Amino acid sequence: MRSHLLNETTADIYRRTVTEGVARVAAKLATTERPHTGISVDELAPVINGIDLDRPLEDPAAVLDELEDVYLRDAVYFHHPRYLGHLNCPVVIPAVLGEAVLSAVNSSLDTWDQSIGGTLIERRLIDWTAQRIGLGEGADGVFTSGGSQSNFHALLLARDEACRIVMKQALNEGRELPKSEVLPKLRIFTSEASHFSVKKSAAMLGLGYEAVISVPVDRNRRMDTAILALELENCRRDGLFPMAVVATAGTTDFGSIDPLPEIARLTSEHSAWMHVDAAYGCGLLISPTRRHLLDGIENADSVTVDYHKSFFQPVSSSAVLVRDRDTLKHATYHADYLNPRRMAEERIPNQVDKSIQTTRRFDALKLWMTLRTMGADGLGSLFDEVIDLAAAGWDIIDADPRFEVVVKPQISTLVFRYVPGPDSADLPAELLDEAQLHARKALFASGEAVVAGTKVDGKQYLKFTLLNPQTTTADISAVLDLLAAHAAQFLGESLAVHR
Ligand SMILES: Cc1ncc(COP(=O)(O)O)c(C=O)c1O
Repeated sequence: MRSHLLNETTADIYRRTVTEGVARVAAKLATTERPHTGISVDELAPVINGIDLDRPLEDPAAVLDELEDVYLRDAVYFHHPRYLGHLNCPVVIPAVLGEAVLSAVNSSLDTWDQSIGGTLIERRLIDWTAQRIGLGEGADGVFTSGGSQSNFHALLLARDEACRIVMKQALNEGRELPKSEVLPKLRIFTSEASHFSVKKSAAMLGLGYEAVISVPVDRNRRMDTAILALELENCRRDGLFPMAVVATAGTTDFGSIDPLPEIARLTSEHSAWMHVDAAYGCGLLISPTRRHLLDGIENADSVTVDYHKSFFQPVSSSAVLVRDRDTLKHATYHADYLNPRRMAEERIPNQVDKSIQTTRRFDALKLWMTLRTMGADGLGSLFDEVIDLAAAGWDIIDADPRFEVVVKPQISTLVFRYVPGPDSADLPAELLDEAQLHARKALFASGEAVVAGTKVDGKQYLKFTLLNPQTTTADISAVLDLLAAHAAQFLGESLAVHR
């Protein structure tokens, strides 16, 4: 059994085994004709459930053979040009190399004595990102598992800052205000198009879903700041505290970017924390041509960036950044066995002092390898390519009478629905909704392409999330034809039954 341990005696086995695995994946990538095979849960579940985990195969080659049946053959391949589903990007090779290195060395980024160089590399990348955002000299941050965790972490800091400020103010006025009395009065403002993790974070932070005030969006799906201003006034008038405004730089459905400069002005006026969820739009930080779309982000108190969305990094790779490093103390806990206070006084850089995780992957290595190989402009130009593709895609859909498209994209999503000609207004709304759902499902089952779906103003829509520079306008047109055919067939059959 010891021959399976990775150590000084097994370096050759390690090289052989991993090379064999890489060869299998490379062969698979080179021959993938569709984003996935279209297999159903009912077909695949018995194969996986039928494997006896108490009877190991022992030989890694046999395990790889088996892996073909349980995973590799039917996986959803994001690198395929017709994968247009969720916010998953194809990944760059330097980052995959980083992934292989980091799991073999297996540093844990919680303390200096478990990571050394890893700690410093992560810190450099946090500083580099903060500089790109323009957060100033006092900025800091930490890598996280993803955008949801980054948003949660930022709102935890915002909550505790709000409590600190409100309680101090009360004390200055000569009265003691317990935290338990402040918490129910905190409110978070975010647009109705923002990510659900904002509401979920509020619930997990003990504030409840009802602490989140949903601000309507304009016709371009950006937060309506006139309404935000009114809501902030109402909040104060009602004796409540505006804890934070969460702006989105790249909404999940529309890629819309909230008016950051105006939101910065309002948060400053109302002494509210400004968080920018740039999980999706962060790629603009390195865009050679479109950085200006994020103007105003430099005013944020905290920012979420998901390198695993628009920096072409493998999952997971995300970070939360803050303007004032002192605010990170709200997530600090000194454990005698791990990071005693004495270490902080000795300025030993223990990243666990800033994180809500303890043992933590060295995800930063992937971004490091990427930047050292491709450079920021090179990586950013890939993101530019998909934004150009989305603009061309909008022209195609807008000119196609079979579809209606919601907004011209600021980044790289297209939200649209099938409308079968001028008579579609006479069709029952539910039937038209079902046609969109059916088209998406049938396309997924065919394995020929993957698209996403969402609801807009109560109606079902289809969505392309374009993150692959290999996708062409011909792919977009071909997938539209497939969707139209599925939807038309569904409507034809449904209407025949009802006649
Ligand atoms: C705007 C936005 N914020 C946050 C998230 C959550 O990110 P993650 O899936 O990495 O947790 C997403 C995911 O799509 C997103 O689009």
